[in-house]
Amino acid sequence: MSRFEGKAALVTGAASGIGRAVALRLANEGARVLACDIAEVSIALDGVVAHRCDVSSPDECRAAVAACLDAFGRLDVLGNVAGIAIPGHATDVSEDEYRRMMAVNVDGPFFLAQAAIPHLLERGGVIVNIASNAGIMGIAYFVVYSMTKGAIVQLTRSLAMEYAKTSLRVVAIAPGGINTPLAAGVRFPPDVDFDLIRPYTGFRGQGEPEDIAALFAFVASDEGRNIHGAILPSDLGLSAG
Ligand SMILES: NC(=O)c1ccc[n+]([C@@H]2O[C@H](COP(=O)([O-])OP(=O)(O)OC[C@H]3O[C@@H](n4cnc5c(N)ncnc54)[C@H](O)[C@@H]3O)[C@@H](O)[C@H]2O)c1
Repeated sequence: MSRFEGKAALVTGAASGIGRAVALRLANEGARVLACDIAEVSIALDGVVAHRCDVSSPDECRAAVAACLDAFGRLDVLGNVAGIAIPGHATDVSEDEYRRMMAVNVDGPFFLAQAAIPHLLERGGVIVNIASNAGIMGIAYFVVYSMTKGAIVQLTRSLAMEYAKTSLRVVAIAPGGINTPLAAGVRFPPDVDFDLIRPYTGFRGQGEPEDIAALFAFVASDEGRNIHGAILPSDLGLSAG
């Protein structure tokens, strides 16, 4: 497929997991991709340009958008994928942990969107935000992470309303458990009540980053033109009940 031929995308979190799968998928469908991450991005595909960006810095967000325009002369798709999750008892979350989760998961998507929107408006661009089932369900021991993903849900809906009369589309995907280093690295404190965690384990296991990349590519392509302001779960039924 070549749904992104001639288009340019900026994808954050592209060194690992979902962001890497999204960058690969878009590039394989013809996009030129500015693959942004705080870690080294190793994607050896024509049209993929690695760019170091700490999304917790508004200046670096603005610089990433400028780098995309320098490299490709346009911006059609913004993929806000980078994120971090630090579990723990709500009463034990340190101020530093709180600020880091807010800065990476909320500040980054907002300031990237703010810098990208004028360019996305030029050609009917799309913002795809990666939220989480944690943005639509309450999640024990992930209170702050869940707050950040709830903010992404409202960022998506509110931008969708503000730009309702333009050609810009804004969409969020809410993955459930996905087989990535982030999910594998979750370590709960030993004294948590596992009864409270069971609702988020589901009955069907985990999805793969490529499952999210496939949905991302659909909603970001012209085939997704009817989708605006929606929060789309891809979670093996986790948020159904
Ligand atoms: N894996 C899951 O189960 C799951 C479920 C729901 C939502 N999500 C969300 O999906 C997104 C991707 O997560 P993943 O599972 O692929 O994780 P991951 O850890 O595999 O990848 C996250 C990437 O973000 C990068 N990153 C972290 N901080 C950054 C910063 N300050 N600036 C730029 N890049 C930074 C990391 O270096 C890493 O490459 C996150 O927003 C996460 O909250 C994941």
